[in-house]
Amino acid sequence: MNLEAYHTLLKTPVPGGFLYTKPGARGSQDPAYTLLAEVLEPHGQSALDLNPGIGLVTHALRQQGLRVQAIETSRASLRCLEASFGSSVRVTRGLPWATEPDSADLVALVLPAHRGTRFVELALLGAARALRTGGRLWIAGSKDKGFAHYFKLAQAWVGYGLLVRREGAWRVAVLEKEKPAPSLPEVWQSFDWAFMGKTLSFSYLPGVFSGGHLDPGSAMLLRELPQDLGHVLDIGGGYGALSRPLLGRAQGLTLLEDDWISVLCAQKNLGEAATVLHSDVDEALTEDQTFTTIITNPPFHVGGLVVLETAIAFIEAAHARLERGGKFYLVANRFLPYEPLLEARFATVRTLAVNTHKVLVAYK
Ligand SMILES: C[S@@+](CC[C@H](N)C(=O)[O-])C[C@H]1O[C@@H](n2cnc3c(N)ncnc32)[C@H](O)[C@@H]1O
Repeated sequence: MNLEAYHTLLKTPVPGGFLYTKPGARGSQDPAYTLLAEVLEPHGQSALDLNPGIGLVTHALRQQGLRVQAIETSRASLRCLEASFGSSVRVTRGLPWATEPDSADLVALVLPAHRGTRFVELALLGAARALRTGGRLWIAGSKDKGFAHYFKLAQAWVGYGLLVRREGAWRVAVLEKEKPAPSLPEVWQSFDWAFMGKTLSFSYLPGVFSGGHLDPGSAMLLRELPQDLGHVLDIGGGYGALSRPLLGRAQGLTLLEDDWISVLCAQKNLGEAATVLHSDVDEALTEDQTFTTIITNPPFHVGGLVVLETAIAFIEAAHARLERGGKFYLVANRFLPYEPLLEARFATVRTLAVNTHKVLVAYK
């Protein structure tokens, strides 16, 4: 898939209309969304969708005549939501736990289990806090990804709940708010890592890639980088694990990241010395921006499903954004087939290190 195709929004039919979708956006081929959209019933006037993805559940709530706010973290999904709903839905870039208290009659939450237990628990807390007394919380998820635990927790924080649908491993439950929600705990955490003679301190929020430790793949890539880097672009930069050690060594540093939560972490970790952009691959760059060195540890999951199309778009973007004579460094799990993808684009591709991961470099 070329970069233009990756960035193109596609119309996908849904009951009673269509939604925009695109590669890299969550929630179009996911049974939890389909089931929740099918099962939920209207309640009151205002609804909050706390994990909308491309907006299947938001669409169902709109169809039922509710006023909807959709809070989303992914830039790819936000692009779809904005295109599908325009001003008919309040589409907000935000954190699922930072909700307005007592503001919604109904909250819908597809449990974002792929982001880890703490993230899901905080999203449930955000849902409990947003609901008015007597309001309803709808949750959907898989029994293989902790549904029973989250349902129990939601009952403790919200009130009485009923399992309303089982389909294979998928579950949908509805709860009614009977009690005041607990207050929000401190969400920021930090950790130190000692690496190549330096100790660096990182702040992070729940749900970011490799929060609390340096990913072994990222560490391998950092060991392979030359001293002289020029202008550096970090695609899919997370909380800044690859970029932070390069501060002061690179002539300029730009980080692109799809996940708003990771963007907030990277901004905190990198300060003003770097440019951190909320960006679906390279869409936030201007057309003429190019770089001497591009680094990436690309994702191969979207919403918990293994998908390589975003990683392929990273490679396409790296090729488009590299100066002639520049170098593109990529680290990946050893089993992932990146070599042919790189060779199709770059004249020279070399393997610099192999372990549990491999570090590849491509020259333009
Ligand atoms: C494997 S993690 C690497 C993070 C960081 N570079 C590190 O080494 O710790 C991949 C990152 O790519 C981000 N990502 C996923 N899809 C993206 C997209 N479409 N555009 C930009 N970043 C994306 C993820 O949110 C995640 O932070």
